[in-house]
Amino acid sequence: MPRKKQLPIFPYDFINEKADEYEKSKWMERNQKRATQLAVQYLFDTKLTNEKEKEPPFTESLLVLDLGCGTGFSTEVLINNGFKVIGIDILPDMLLKARLKNANIDLILADINYLPMRHKIADHLISISSYNFIIHDKDQNRERIKLLNSTAQSLHNILKNKGHIVIEFYPKDDQELQMVIESFIHNGFEGYMVKNKPNQKSGQTFLLLRKRVGNGKL
Ligand SMILES: C[S@@+](CC[C@H](N)C(=O)[O-])C[C@H]1O[C@@H](n2cnc3c(N)ncnc32)[C@H](O)[C@@H]1O
Repeated sequence: MPRKKQLPIFPYDFINEKADEYEKSKWMERNQKRATQLAVQYLFDTKLTNEKEKEPPFTESLLVLDLGCGTGFSTEVLINNGFKVIGIDILPDMLLKARLKNANIDLILADINYLPMRHKIADHLISISSYNFIIHDKDQNRERIKLLNSTAQSLHNILKNKGHIVIEFYPKDDQELQMVIESFIHNGFEGYMVKNKPNQKSGQTFLLLRKRVGNGKL
């Protein structure tokens, strides 16, 4: 897959031969892996952990859900960092490629918006270049806000109390970015945003989130 100026269109750019192209693209692999490694660093960011000194994290016993794992580039990085990982994706075409690369990873075919996971199962949640697609079929802002809120609420339910979420995504504009941020704030999270190019309206954005203490939800 050649490097694109435009954002991919969901689901067309991830099905049939496009899933093949995605999987074979060296640029995409490099990009996804670099973003995931950065997300792992952010997971233990001192702003989220409140620790003065950064301890090397002991990751072996920690379960991370990779939300929108695609063909598994991000999953591979998480496994190499020592986490127990479950990769989750809505498209069989993408998930099948992850399975063919590695027969031993845990994969679930599911929608991020309706995760079939039990209460407080995850130590941490990571999502790389996927969260901007979860509202792809909602045209009205009202519908988008409703879905973003119910998804944030479900992520709050799945995540352990001291868990963190790192989302790397590509909001299409400031309004969409704001909607996503507010969905987390209204559903018991607090956190930070990191933008590599702060003057860019859309573009690569990281949200670093943790459960808010003292709101009655913990
Ligand atoms: C750019 S790919 C990123 C994949 C992955 N991070 C990687 O390393 O290859 C975006 C992925 O998000 C998935 N996706 C989009 N909407 C989704 C949803 N609602 N639930 C689960 N996965 C979704 C797509 O199927 C696609 O595989």
